[in-house]
Amino acid sequence: MRALIVDRSVPGGLRIGDVPEPVPAPNQALVLITATSLNYGEVKHGIEMAEEGTVLGWDAAGVVVQAAADGSGPAVGTPVVTLEEGGGWAELRAVRTDWIGVVPEHAEPGAISTIPVAAGTALRTLHRIGPILGRRILVTGATGGVGRYAVQLARLGGAHVIASTGDPAKHDEALRALGAHEVVSGPTQAGGGLDGVLDMVGGPQLVEAFDQMGAGGTLVAVGHSTGEGENFPFGAMFSGPGRDNRSIVTFMLLFCAGLDRDLTWLAQQVADGVLSPEITWRGGWDDVPDAVGALVERRLHGKAVLDLA
Ligand SMILES: NC(=O)c1ccc[n+]([C@@H]2O[C@H](COP(=O)([O-])OP(=O)(O)OC[C@H]3O[C@@H](n4cnc5c(N)ncnc54)[C@H](OP(=O)(O)O)[C@@H]3O)[C@@H](O)[C@H]2O)c1
Repeated sequence: MRALIVDRSVPGGLRIGDVPEPVPAPNQALVLITATSLNYGEVKHGIEMAEEGTVLGWDAAGVVVQAAADGSGPAVGTPVVTLEEGGGWAELRAVRTDWIGVVPEHAEPGAISTIPVAAGTALRTLHRIGPILGRRILVTGATGGVGRYAVQLARLGGAHVIASTGDPAKHDEALRALGAHEVVSGPTQAGGGLDGVLDMVGGPQLVEAFDQMGAGGTLVAVGHSTGEGENFPFGAMFSGPGRDNRSIVTFMLLFCAGLDRDLTWLAQQVADGVLSPEITWRGGWDDVPDAVGALVERRLHGKAVLDLA
């Protein structure tokens, strides 16, 4: 079958090649892929670190062509959205059924392919913060794939949403259209008293965001895009009036069980137009180097979708 294979000798580090079709385990369905979306993490770090010849790819939308042998998961012919630790940049993938969401028949596969890592992470990290109705939530890296879904979901959940971006002048209108009440140039502008932070950037922004949290606030350290360390000044961890019981938690989507339910719900929201997939780049098999370059060089704000069928 056709796949995008890691080959660091070519521009972008991926070439189109032939690989054997995957053989599903008993708890896996075989899915014919129609569209996949690219994520910063797999493009930046995956291509750099994977063995030559690996087929990467976390997100994919498609149709079940062979149901799981153990009887779990959707039947043959069901449109689905899938997540796995690799194998999504190919014509077929084998996927564990607890990471398969069922997709409405009328959904557009490219839009659906943006869901697993970006929207799945946004949803699970908001769950980690706890109740958000009427709470102040800061999203850093808000213009990115995860950030745009996080802004929309936090607003849907009734939060007061503060979106942070390095270029508020450029992104203010778009982020407000997604549901942000405020658009700021960094956590120090967030106004304090935060109940929750979804931090996609890491480094100094994480330290600043922690300082803006109110009592009982939770900061979820999702991403580390800056590649910089988090150096907390003396006193940053002091408790005090309005600053007691603040916490920082780590998060990894690929360690989450039972994502099938979340993926199914998110697919319904995207199909019904409640959530926007925010596709800002779209192409086919031959256009991959362009998408990889745009993601790594931070030129692409939103989701890149590859149509594979
Ligand atoms: N833990 C997990 O399970 C998990 C899951 C998904 C993603 N992630 C991580 O979360 C992060 C966001 O993912 P994504 O797919 O949304 O990435 P993305 O689409 O590249 O978006 C990241 C956003 O962060 C900002 N940013 C990027 N590099 C930056 C830098 N050096 N300094 C300051 N801001 C920077 C950019 O916004 P502005 O230019 O507007 O400031 C960008 O839009 C990535 O680090 C990714 O690896 C982790």
